[in-house]
Amino acid sequence: MTDTVPLTRAEPARHPHPVRSRANAKFFDVMDWYQHRHLGARKRALFTDLPTEVVELGAGAGASMRYLARGTHLVTIEPNPHAHDALRRKATRYGIELEIRGEGAESTSVETASVDAVICTLVLCTVEEPSAALAEVRRILRPGGRFVFIEHVASGPGPLRALQRLLRRPWKYVFDGCHLDRDTAAAIAAAGFTDVRIEHGRMGGAFVPVWPMISGVAVA
Ligand SMILES: C[S@@+](CC[C@H](N)C(=O)[O-])C[C@H]1O[C@@H](n2cnc3c(N)ncnc32)[C@H](O)[C@@H]1O
Repeated sequence: MTDTVPLTRAEPARHPHPVRSRANAKFFDVMDWYQHRHLGARKRALFTDLPTEVVELGAGAGASMRYLARGTHLVTIEPNPHAHDALRRKATRYGIELEIRGEGAESTSVETASVDAVICTLVLCTVEEPSAALAEVRRILRPGGRFVFIEHVASGPGPLRALQRLLRRPWKYVFDGCHLDRDTAAAIAAAGFTDVRIEHGRMGGAFVPVWPMISGVAVA
């Protein structure tokens, strides 16, 4: 396993919060089973034929590693240092060759047109500049490479949208920058990929504000 790679041209996205960043890393580590229950089938379907070199944006505590082929070389772009131990632990458990880059998805040290697959789950809700992160995905993918994503998004008009509006600010505070009301489908559609396939779905489970979700593949 490769250890944390020092920063090169990329900068950390923002200073990790001493309490909330630590608490969120722990939360996503502990809730691994919950994500497996509610997103597992979707992840298994989307990640099934990924190449053995993958870049993951905002890998968190490594909730997607169990769906990757053993022996996958995974470069994680994860600015929260409190999540890195969990990433190492999961990598060992699932036989992943791990490289951690403690930088933001908006500007990474990954070489231009150097990878065939970028994955991200529940991250474009949190990055400060989703359009910059998507431009970065296009930059690092080879032509024909795939961006595979699962994201929670703003609900259409109705009570759930009202709930998201009501909770927007406290949610963002507690979940370390997470936005409940982003139109991530539109952002991906506008990002300049050659082919975009997006499915709208529902996560289900206890966390009602994040029920509306999208998943799919965008080709560079
Ligand atoms: C809601 S968590 C999801 C973690 C993981 N992908 C999962 O599915 O469990 C969002 C993650 O995005 C990371 N993150 C926040 N800002 C980021 C940025 N600018 N670039 C990359 N990752 C970022 C956070 O540190 C956190 O690990």
